[in-house]
Amino acid sequence: MEIYRQRREQLMAKIGNGTAIFRSAPMAVMHNDVEYAFRQDSNFFYLTGFNEPDAVAVFAPHHEEHQFILFVQPKDIEKETWTGYRTGVDLAKEMYGADEAYSITELDEKLPQYLEKADRIYYHVGRDRAFDDTILQHWQQQRRLYYRRGTGPRAIEDSAVLTDPLRQIKTPEELELMRRAAEIAVDAHNLAREIARPGRYEYEIQAEMERLFGVNGGSPAYPSIVASGGNSCILHYVENNRQMQDGDLLLIDAGCCYQYYNSDITRTFPVGGKFKPNQKIIYELVLEAQKQALSKIKPGIPYNEHHDAAVRVIVEGLMELGLLVGDIEEIIKEEKYKPFYMHKTGHWLGLDVHDAGAYKHSEEEWQILQPGQVLTVEPGIYISPFLKPVEGQPEVDSQWHGIGVRIEDDVLVTETGCEILTAGVPKSVEEMER
Ligand code: GLY
Ligand code: MN
Ligand code: MN
Repeated sequence: MEIYRQRREQLMAKIGNGTAIFRSAPMAVMHNDVEYAFRQDSNFFYLTGFNEPDAVAVFAPHHEEHQFILFVQPKDIEKETWTGYRTGVDLAKEMYGADEAYSITELDEKLPQYLEKADRIYYHVGRDRAFDDTILQHWQQQRRLYYRRGTGPRAIEDSAVLTDPLRQIKTPEELELMRRAAEIAVDAHNLAREIARPGRYEYEIQAEMERLFGVNGGSPAYPSIVASGGNSCILHYVENNRQMQDGDLLLIDAGCCYQYYNSDITRTFPVGGKFKPNQKIIYELVLEAQKQALSKIKPGIPYNEHHDAAVRVIVEGLMELGLLVGDIEEIIKEEKYKPFYMHKTGHWLGLDVHDAGAYKHSEEEWQILQPGQVLTVEPGIYISPFLKPVEGQPEVDSQWHGIGVRIEDDVLVTETGCEILTAGVPKSVEEMER
């Protein structure tokens, strides 16, 4: 609870005379009354540690009595029999450190007192339309009152401006969980390499990996991708139902969520134990692209540089193979490599797999890497048989078709450079073969 308290303190210091409102995740209904597993909204969890749906957290540092207010589902033994334990109003104060707590049914009655002296409302519009309406109605009411009272919020600002910069720098406690999430996924990837064989099905590998997540208290961070043969060229392939053949590459993109924190790892290796010559060429190219990208992960370097480094290696390599022709600077500038490499080299990682935080601050100004940030570094090359070459570029010879390679690691920016949190899964050509 002390960790959440510190986070709230940091948040409050940024709110000034505003009031910030955070909504929990809704309980998602699948169909016919069957519920998806509940997963708390990441910002809500980050600030409260509170793990129930239908809750609202309000932060009003300027308020005389209450700065942190929780609205929660009230105790209801009958409902709890169906839908699980509720903390309830009384314990919400005691257990979660709120200065005041109310039943969520009292929101409309109690919220105005926390808005009337605020100069703005921080709230993330657009995620929960029904709740947006509630907030907009309160805002309208406060705007009307402003003309006689002289106080009240005049603007609504995205609450992400408060939480993004906090979430972007991971604390030692967060890193401990991220290391564990990484470690479990590392073990799962190492297991996958041991058990993948021609004749087995992609879903068998998925099941064994996810079993390891489960018995270690984790779960899949996102739908696991186990993509053999030509499936490796489909970025978000999730069917995982093909029988693997000798001669296939197997691309596995699977990460573990452990106590809300995520890992995200991709490895690509030959199912039969030996790369074919063309597969090996593409694999080594992606590996070199990742190496060059990783050399650009240190404090003070703009966020775009590792992507640019990876693109340059990939373009140079594809030109050498005759898969791209022309002037290298023009190919890069006009992104003519995109049929082969259509995604970016990574993303922030944390409570969300694609974690909170900006990559750019203006058209020209990239985020500068700082110690405590965690990002993925994941270059790839995908040579789909259905590829449409860019004008002026050659047809791809069928000997390359169906080769898809991605190598993805999770990287912490440190004071002096970076630390690869997922280094426990090998990636050299020799280690991917057997
Ligand atoms: N597995 C999701 C990603 O790599 O971004
Ligand atoms: Mn990723
Ligand atoms: Mn991934």
